[in-house]
Formats: sequence, C-alpha cells, structure tokens
Amino acid sequence: MSGSILFLIHLIGFGIVFTVILAGWILNRRFAREKDRQIQLYVGGLMRTIGLLSPVAAVILLISGIGNIFHRYPDAMSRWYTEGWLVAKLLVFVIFLINGTIYGPRLARRRMTAAKEIAAGNPPHDAEVNFAVLNNQVTLFYVVQFVLLMGIAALSVFGTAKHVGFFG
Ligand code: HEM
Repeated sequence: MSGSILFLIHLIGFGIVFTVILAGWILNRRFAREKDRQIQLYVGGLMRTIGLLSPVAAVILLISGIGNIFHRYPDAMSRWYTEGWLVAKLLVFVIFLINGTIYGPRLARRRMTAAKEIAAGNPPHDAEVNFAVLNNQVTLFYVVQFVLLMGIAALSVFGTAKHVGFFG
C-alpha cells in the first residue's frame, strides 16, 4: 500500500480517537450533572457505545503506524528505534492503551452499577458518596487520556527531522 494512503489512514485513526475522547468528555459532564436517573442511564449507555469505537481506532493506529515505520525507514527493523520521538511515542501509546482498555472501562462499569442501584431505589447507604467519587475518577481518566493523546501528537509532529523539527 502506498505510504501516503497509510499516512492518511493513520490521521483518520487520530481523528477517531480524538473524537471518542472529546465526545466522551462532553457526555461525561452531562452524565455527572443529570438529575433524572433514567436519562443518566441513557447517557451512560451512549458513552459505552461511543467507547466501543476506541479499540477500532487503536487497531487502525497500530497497523497504519507500523506501515508508517516501514515507509519512513525502508530498512525499518534496523533503524526505527534510533529516533527518540518514535520510541517515546510508542511508550506513551502503550500507557494510553492500557489506561483506555483496562482502567477506563472498569471505572465506567463500576459507575454504571452504582447509577443503576441508585435509580432502582433502595441503594446501599454509601451509594451517593461512592457515585460522586467514581464521577471524579472518570473525569480524571478523561483528562489523563487527553493529555497523553496530546503528548503523542506533539511527539509525532515535533519529533526530530519532522517538519521544522522542534527537537533538532
Ligand atoms: C494515539 C496514537 C497515535 C497518534 C495520535 C498518532 C499521530 C500521528 C500523527 C499526527 C502523525 C503525523 C506527524 C507529522 O508528520 O506531522 C504521525 C506519524 C507517525 N506515526 Fe503515529 N500516531 C499514533 C500511534 C502510532 C503508532 C502506534 C505507531 C507505530 C506503531 C505510529 C507511527 C508513526 C510514524 C512512524 C509516523 C511518521 C510517518 C512519517 O513521517 O512518514 N503512530 N502519528
């Protein structure tokens, strides 16, 4: 496949992951502030549906990223790790991936369980406190994911020998 098409697919992957995080953040604010419990559960369901796009985006980015490596370094396997920006980017990507596939969904599941218990009436005595703590943790999760994503984008764009080459 031509390098330009791979690169385009890579940028589409970036667009999808950016949208998932932005939409997730907006819906999360709505979820946390919603007083009507049924609407809250509905918004939680929407968040889950949008979240299902993130593994798709991760696979697109990984496959097209590997393609980019072969395109950028024709003798790829012997040279790609000599560029610091790319090694740093891959390390941040792994953290981003682990946070997004394990920690985030686990928090979201626990929060939905708490929301359902409250909506059903007769929740455990500490349900409201637990729910508020989970709300804060999910918000923090989105902030961390956004910062990591911007870090990956910055490393990609400003890396050595990239465009103006911020780092050299
Ligand atoms: C959230 C994940 C990722 C994001 C947001 C992202 C974003 C980007 C962006 C915006 C560029 C264009 C930089 C530029 O030239 O201005 C780029 C290039 C590149 N990406 Fe990624 N990327 C991600 C994951 C990956 C992964 C997992 C790999 C490798 C397995 C990878 C390998 C590359 C390579 C080699 C280039 C340079 C292509 C070239 O200059 O010819 N990326 N990435």
